[in-house]
Amino acid sequence: MIANIKTVGVVGAGQMGCGIAHVVALAGFDVLLHDANAERLPAVLAEIERNLGRQVRRGTISDSDASAAMDRIQTTGDLRSLAPVDLVIESALEDEEVKRGIFAALCYIVRPDCVIATNTSSIAITRLGAAVQKPERFVGIHFMNPVPMMALVEVIPGVATAADTVRTATAFVTRLGKTPAVAQDFPAFMVNRILAPMLNEAIYALHEGVGTVEAIDKAMRLGANHPMGPLELADFIGLDICLSNLQVLYESLADPKYRPCPLLVKYVEAGWLGAKSGRGFYDYSTDPPTPLPAA
Ligand SMILES: NC(=O)c1ccc[n+]([C@@H]2O[C@H](COP(=O)([O-])OP(=O)(O)OC[C@H]3O[C@@H](n4cnc5c(N)ncnc54)[C@H](O)[C@@H]3O)[C@@H](O)[C@H]2O)c1
Repeated sequence: MIANIKTVGVVGAGQMGCGIAHVVALAGFDVLLHDANAERLPAVLAEIERNLGRQVRRGTISDSDASAAMDRIQTTGDLRSLAPVDLVIESALEDEEVKRGIFAALCYIVRPDCVIATNTSSIAITRLGAAVQKPERFVGIHFMNPVPMMALVEVIPGVATAADTVRTATAFVTRLGKTPAVAQDFPAFMVNRILAPMLNEAIYALHEGVGTVEAIDKAMRLGANHPMGPLELADFIGLDICLSNLQVLYESLADPKYRPCPLLVKYVEAGWLGAKSGRGFYDYSTDPPTPLPAA
């Protein structure tokens, strides 16, 4: 197993892949960023540059740190370019068939000792590992969104993952300046397992009229010392993502305590997905956003 990682491949240059490439390059690794849709790569690079620029303006990194990080990132539309990497982090669509196809192809491209990781939020690591030749080198490395801001990264071994691979993954996460937390391979791992039912409970409280949007968020900010209220947080994450996290828990653990609140289902069906669609529990056409009555 490669303990000394120098070059990292990232497969999937969406919201998460873009953030992962950003923090990995900033930590001094060379990055090969791949997306099946090569046309989006120039825009992704421009976005990483903008995000690094924001950190420079905030004074958290220097101008030369930002330009050195940009110099370390190369983009490619051809998966075969990932042949020299020491670690590859798959962060493509949350679709099991797509991910399995990527791993099947990668096994013929990368070296047999290359660590293969997935950033999946919900698909079992053990099941994905079955698509990898030598699954002892396969591991979950689950970043939080937005990647440059969030301190925690979950490291998830599947049943076939070698202890050495877990050590390499946790050491890598530490070198990114983040804190690793090892979770076992159960649905939604640790953070989403706990967060999803809490957000769902806040939506039930709204649905049952326990409090208004404003009151529920204020209660949790001031009463539990949370930096954001649960309904603003649900809007920020995206109500479709919250619903899909709950569905994974509900279906895979077959426990009614994870039943998605009907109000959440209704909002997603209406296309009210939170901040990204302009409306969720708040109206985002105003600054600051206006809390709305439950529909
Ligand atoms: N969004 C979040 O909050 C979050 C948090 C943690 C983990 N994740 C996980 O990260 C992964 C990516 O999520 P995202 O929000 O960045 O999605 P996204 O839709 O923003 O990006 C997915 C990218 O993958 C690319 N892609 C699709 N098929 C591909 C293929 N075969 N090969 C290479 N690239 C391909 C797409 O072109 C797109 O650019 C998912 O597995 C998701 O569960 C998401």
